[in-house]
Amino acid sequence: TLKAAFSEGLLGWYKVAKRDLPWRRSRDPYHIWISEIMLQQTRVDTVIPYFNRFVERFPTVADLAAAPEEDVLKAWEGLGYYSRARNLQAAAREVTERYGGRVPDDKAAVSGLKGVGPYTSGAIMSIAFNRPEPAVDGNVMRVLSRYFCIDEDIARPATRIGMEGLARKLIPEGEAADFNQALMELGAMICTPKSPSCLVCPVMEHCQGRQAGREEELPIKTKA
Ligand code: ADE
Repeated sequence: TLKAAFSEGLLGWYKVAKRDLPWRRSRDPYHIWISEIMLQQTRVDTVIPYFNRFVERFPTVADLAAAPEEDVLKAWEGLGYYSRARNLQAAAREVTERYGGRVPDDKAAVSGLKGVGPYTSGAIMSIAFNRPEPAVDGNVMRVLSRYFCIDEDIARPATRIGMEGLARKLIPEGEAADFNQALMELGAMICTPKSPSCLVCPVMEHCQGRQAGREEELPIKTKA
């Protein structure tokens, strides 16, 4: 089937082609959490040195919770969107007080933390705990809208919700962590917004957008 071809092709590709990124060397949910907050509005290449310094300066949730806010903001300096840093520290204090300093392996609890929206909670649950939760951001919507030739406006909440349902069904049993990162990796490296590298795409053969010659016009997005 189209879905099985996608999941198998993508996962097999990721296992051999994935980039060696610092947060991929860790299974510590706290590290995954920091990386996902940093990656929300900042490119991978920029995030790498900030991530390394941040986990060195604040090795545990308790260290981050106990730090003066100005030290946290100092470590964030240059990344921008400083509310991310303030929310992260507030959430670290909550994890320390309510969950004994461990990021909870619980979707509702993670979703309730400051600064953690649907994408980030899905990313943490899947990457850190291998739970079969979707993690759908703009990159993932682009990949799915092209492969399945989905014409819906990705600015509509209903479209995102539909994509989350689709992404959830695509996760191969026991492979949520790698599969969700594979989706992100394909969007970053191959299925780029402009001039996607279809000729080296692991799922080009079944890509419905490509077959329709519409890969560059998808996804449809009305408002910026
Ligand atoms: N963008 C968002 N999350 C990411 C991750 N875990 N790896 C690479 N790029 C990402």
